[in-house]
Order: sequence, then structure tokens, then C-alpha cells
Amino acid sequence: MSGRVKLVLATRNAKKVPEMQAVLAAAGVEADVVGLDAYPQAPEVAETEPTFTGNALLKARAVAAHTGLPAVADDSGLRVDALNGMPGVLSARWSGRFGDATGDKDLANLHLVLDQLADTPDGRRGAEFVAAAALVVPGGVETAVEGVMRGRIIRERRGGNGFGYDPVFVPEGETRTTAEMEPEEKNAISHRGKAFRALAEEIRELG
Ligand code: IMP
Repeated sequence: MSGRVKLVLATRNAKKVPEMQAVLAAAGVEADVVGLDAYPQAPEVAETEPTFTGNALLKARAVAAHTGLPAVADDSGLRVDALNGMPGVLSARWSGRFGDATGDKDLANLHLVLDQLADTPDGRRGAEFVAAAALVVPGGVETAVEGVMRGRIIRERRGGNGFGYDPVFVPEGETRTTAEMEPEEKNAISHRGKAFRALAEEIRELG
């Protein structure tokens, strides 16, 4: 088969749609990607699984069932070695209600991790960002892939780009945090970039 694939990306984050479109274009995959803004009635899916892959599959299945179109979903987070892999799937919710009350949950999450690592020496501050990306075709295949970016957690925030834990994460082989990188630089090495590029090969098969 050949032709343009139509895909729904299971996100209400408008920035992720052009990011996915760009990854597919760079891989030479012709696809039209739309976000959930085009499907306001799509169900909200709670991230109840213990793994990134499990949560990405939950979201992609729900959107494929609702739209009748191939759906892609991602789920991501930070695993800190000295915290036994936490916050993991709880990355977005790590500071709980306290974080909600501050009005900037991402910042509260980041500071909680910094506090938890306050006594951890520089040689043991390893961490990794992980992203799972899942593709579900209605009545057809289900595929999930994972991308990882290794690095370490520094002690103070640096940089104004990105989001979440970016200001305290320095990738392996780098001196800058991911918040000090341009978006294209980060995408080239990031967990999400790797997962989306791996999934592009699966999406190509749909054409
Ligand atoms: P998701 O939106 O459910 O995938 O949650 C991802 C959470 O993990 C975000 O709220 C961030 O806290 C963290 N996270 C995932 N990817 C990144 C990244 O690239 N930079 C910084 N934080 C990230």
C-alpha cells in the first residue's frame, strides 16, 4: 500500500502535534497528524498503569476506539537512580496536592526531587528520561516503543527552555541542561524524539 496516513495524536498539548509531524517528515513518512482538539468528545483516560508503555497503550486504545483512526499516544517521565527509579510514572504528580496549591506544579515537582537528593553526592546523581510511544490501529496492530535519555540531576536550576525537570537535567556527554538547549537540539537526543522516530517506522507500514 502507499498513500498519506491519517493519525490522531492522543494529546491536548498543541506543541506535540507539530513535533510528531516534523519527526515523521524527517523520516520521509507522509502523514496528516491531528490532535485531540479535533475530537473534543474524546474520553479523558486516567494513567492507571504502572509502566509508561502501559499508559501509552491505554491512551492510544481509547482514542483509536473513539475516532476509528490509527492513534498514537505517549507517556513519559523521569527515573532517578538514587530514588530507585522514582518519580517514574508519577513524575507529573510527584508533589501531589502540595504542588497543586503552589500554582506551579512542575516547579514544585522539580524542587521536591532536588530536596530528596540534597545529600546525594555528585557521583550518584544519575537519572534518565523515558518516553513510551504507542500506535494502535482500530481492529489491527498495537505497537509500543520506548526511548531513553541518560543524564544526571544537578543541584540548581539552569535555563529557560523546555518544561518539567529540564532545568536540572544534564544529558550524558553534555554540560548544558536540556532547558539550555534549543528544542531541535533536545529532540535530536531526547527520549521522546527517540520513541517517536522508532514509531515512525511502524507508521510507515500503514501507508
Ligand atoms: P506525561 O505528560 O504524562 O507524559 O508526564 C510527563 C511528566 O514527566 C512531565 O510532567 C514532566 O514532569 C516529566 N517529563 C517528561 N518528559 C520530560 C522532558 O522532556 N523534560 C522535562 N520533564 C519531562
